[in-house]
Amino acid sequence: MQYYSELVLPRIIELACGSKRLVDWRKLATDQLFGRVAEIGFGSGANFGLYPSSVSKVIAVEPSRVAMRIFDKKMARQNIQSEVDIVRLRASAIALPLKDASFDCVLLSFVLCSVGDSATAMAEIKRILAPNGKVVFVEHGLAPTLGVQKVQFAFNRTEQRVAGGCQLVLDAKLIISNAGFEVSVIKTGYGPGPRPWGYMTVGVGVLS
Ligand SMILES: C[S@@+](CC[C@H](N)C(=O)[O-])C[C@H]1O[C@@H](n2cnc3c(N)ncnc32)[C@H](O)[C@@H]1O
Repeated sequence: MQYYSELVLPRIIELACGSKRLVDWRKLATDQLFGRVAEIGFGSGANFGLYPSSVSKVIAVEPSRVAMRIFDKKMARQNIQSEVDIVRLRASAIALPLKDASFDCVLLSFVLCSVGDSATAMAEIKRILAPNGKVVFVEHGLAPTLGVQKVQFAFNRTEQRVAGGCQLVLDAKLIISNAGFEVSVIKTGYGPGPRPWGYMTVGVGVLS
């Protein structure tokens, strides 16, 4: 199982999350970013290339060494030079080795579902955000349609087992609001792929 989660899963995530059909959803979130950004659960860098010019620095926080290696290989293969100053940090959202109030924005993309203790992760995010900082998110989660919800609850446990703890039934807006942020939703709806995996919310949270 360790072999699967450490070596195989990051490659599956790269295929699933790297889909070009997600780019428009991602851009709705990344367009909100500015200044110093901490991207939590950077994965293999699916948002890389979508940061606007208003971003001055990105700290890419990711616990998986393999995901980071996939990112490095992609960069080398495509001979991409980053226009943004990007620093990688192997760490978990629930214990961020980052200074208090040191970021203008935190980006969460398809990661709240996997962090496990989302309340602790949100407390950490709150700690590292500067006053007037924003948490920007694009997340999949609990669908509003009853039939889809039934499938989500039915598959939730299996999903957690095969997809690194990923939950299908979380409500990102609620998790972020419960952490003390005032959340503005930019867009919700079904994205590409099967509906139980594809109900998306894009939004921005500011400290209230
Ligand atoms: C579904 S992937 C999304 C990757 C990327 N953010 C994207 O948009 O494609 C979830 C990522 O969150 C990472 N992750 C899981 N638990 C985490 C934690 N506690 N802290 C930070 N990242 C975590 C995983 O290693 C994985 O790379």
